[in-house]
Amino acid sequence: MNTPPSFDTLQTPSILVDRSRLEANIRSMQSVCDAHGVELRPHIKTHKMVEVARRQLEAGARGLTCAKLGEAEAMLPSGMRGMFVAHSLVDPRQAPRIRALAEQLDDLRLAVTSEAHAEVFLRLAALTGRKLSVMMAIDSGLGREGVRDPAAAPRIAALLARSPHVELRGFYTHEGNLYAAAPAEQASRIEEMLGRLCAVRDSIDRTLAIWPGCSVTARLIARMGAGRIQAVRPGAYVFGDLALSRTTGIMPSDTVALHVLATVVDKPEPGLALIDAGSKTFSSDRTPDGISALAIDGRDLAVVRVNEEHGYVRGKDVDTLQIGERIVFMPAHVCTVVNLTDEVVVMERGQVVDTWRVDARGRIR
Ligand SMILES: Cc1ncc(COP(=O)(O)O)c(C=O)c1O
Repeated sequence: MNTPPSFDTLQTPSILVDRSRLEANIRSMQSVCDAHGVELRPHIKTHKMVEVARRQLEAGARGLTCAKLGEAEAMLPSGMRGMFVAHSLVDPRQAPRIRALAEQLDDLRLAVTSEAHAEVFLRLAALTGRKLSVMMAIDSGLGREGVRDPAAAPRIAALLARSPHVELRGFYTHEGNLYAAAPAEQASRIEEMLGRLCAVRDSIDRTLAIWPGCSVTARLIARMGAGRIQAVRPGAYVFGDLALSRTTGIMPSDTVALHVLATVVDKPEPGLALIDAGSKTFSSDRTPDGISALAIDGRDLAVVRVNEEHGYVRGKDVDTLQIGERIVFMPAHVCTVVNLTDEVVVMERGQVVDTWRVDARGRIR
């Protein structure tokens, strides 16, 4: 890029990425995985940026994970050779895009997420003209995609085995429900989940892979599952947010690498300040106690409500704020914040050093 702007010239809201913290988060997750012989296949939905994917791959990530074909296409310039599209693809119109991705990658994996989905997916697979590698989703308590009844898994495996268009390569699960589990319960819940996953796998073929692991569980799963699982797929760990630092306590707040810079634009009544960042910056996602974002400078300032372009700030320190003052906030949920911005401002020791495009922003197809 040309000379980066100085911090003082940034207009708000701006999304700030601390490059050192980001790179430290990438290294730290990779080193846990390396230490336990587990592959890291990060989910790129959190960052949607080639610049970040490239760093994950350089650090040792074995491949990437995404939800949509458009995200996979946007990440091709990262140099990735493997991508797992962890979503229930059904649309025959997408066959040419799947074929093109399969041709450009060494290892494209797609998902089969239930008995009902398997039948429709096989029709789509046939249209691609390729033999596709698939991972079977097992529900581990989130209640979203994934086989509920362990007895259904061998039936799905048999259905897949009869098709010349697919090859079952393993199993995955998204245990997003463990964001709500108490830290003391995590290990026992993970052990129970690993036991169920291995039982399903062993009922079909002991050589198949198991790929669980989100940001709350990945480190523990890599340690506890070493030798039993082959990969983990965390996403939000690259940046962190209130969900990971405050709700679950998984990431210390001084490792969180993405923040929102916003400006106080009004003080309409005592006890309330309005900022120029609302749901079109923070999204509508909130912490379980209803907070969209918290100031990171130690003052008691919380965004407790959002309209599209306004954030309502309350807290003990709100009456000390001045109109025009700029505040740095940690958002409740980082993935949805990134998806709402075209670019992020990259910071190093308080200085702007770069601007990165959010390459897969809005790639929801
Ligand atoms: C299928 C799948 N894998 C992995 C992840 C990564 O989860 P997290 O961002 O909590 O690490 C998600 C998140 O939604 C997901 O849906």
